[in-house]
Amino acid sequence: MIEIRNLTKVYEARGEKHTALDDINLTVRDGEIFGIIGASGAGKSTLVRCINLLERPTSGSVIVDGVDVTGFKGRQLHDLREDIGMIFQNFSLFQQRTVAQNVTYPLEIAGMGKRERVARAAELLEMVGLADKAKRYPSELSGGQQQRVAIARALANEPSIMLCDEATSALDSLTTLQILDLLRSINESLGVTMVVITHALSVAEQICDSVAVIEAGRIVEQGSTVEVFAHPSSAVTQQLLQHRTVSSTITEVVTERCVITEAIDSETATDRKVG
Ligand SMILES: Nc1ncnc2c1ncn2[C@@H]1O[C@H](COP(=O)(O)OP(=O)(O)OP(=O)(O)O)[C@@H](O)[C@H]1O
Ligand SMILES: [Mg+2]
Repeated sequence: MIEIRNLTKVYEARGEKHTALDDINLTVRDGEIFGIIGASGAGKSTLVRCINLLERPTSGSVIVDGVDVTGFKGRQLHDLREDIGMIFQNFSLFQQRTVAQNVTYPLEIAGMGKRERVARAAELLEMVGLADKAKRYPSELSGGQQQRVAIARALANEPSIMLCDEATSALDSLTTLQILDLLRSINESLGVTMVVITHALSVAEQICDSVAVIEAGRIVEQGSTVEVFAHPSSAVTQQLLQHRTVSSTITEVVTERCVITEAIDSETATDRKVG
């Protein structure tokens, strides 16, 4: 479980203070997919970066599985980060390393032996559907495939938590759907708790159990995804819902996929008849 209590983050740049997060309180339950929704600049990335302490909160606390980790340093911080995988919008892969070497990287850092690392990477690549791409370089892969590599790398140390910062924002709608399917199946099969940041409500709708809507550093509403989407209480959520254009695209894609599957089925049926 992740508990965020009275979390505030103030950035100081050139003598000016900017409150990016203002008294945030939220709880992410074990095994759930928790969405953080909000417009650009709302503070989503800052919030999620406070969970693995890539950003240090100005005040307040981050509690993981009952332990206040806010002050963690050195070995404790290292271990915490090993337990929290993270993926980003731009995939952040090492371009000079092969796909397999990207996945083994965190295992090298963790001190795992070579044979074991290679076997583990093969297992992870199989899980994300890229077993045949182990020796390729990131530049030889599509965006969706690169994100799969990033997911495999994030899972290398068997984290119990995964943070996804706009993981599908650079992808087309069909690829988005496939990556969301993969995240959902990882969540279900491995029980990994996920925090998913998105500015696209359709993404949250597709995959999140609960959501928090954030505006100018404050949570304006939170609850189960179904509840928040059916009865949005804040103006921001209502506005975001009105502009939910991607969602219809996703629905279209799903429909298209069904139609294609049906077409293939009927072709197979015809083949069988002919054969
Ligand atoms: N390192 C920093 N120094 C100063 N201000 C920052 C820093 N990082 C973020 N901010 C400011 O904090 C606010 C929140 O930024 P953040 O990146 O968390 O927003 P976001 O919701 O992730 O936006 P986006 O959807 O565009 O990624 C913004 O006003 C941003 O300019
Ligand atoms: Mg961001």
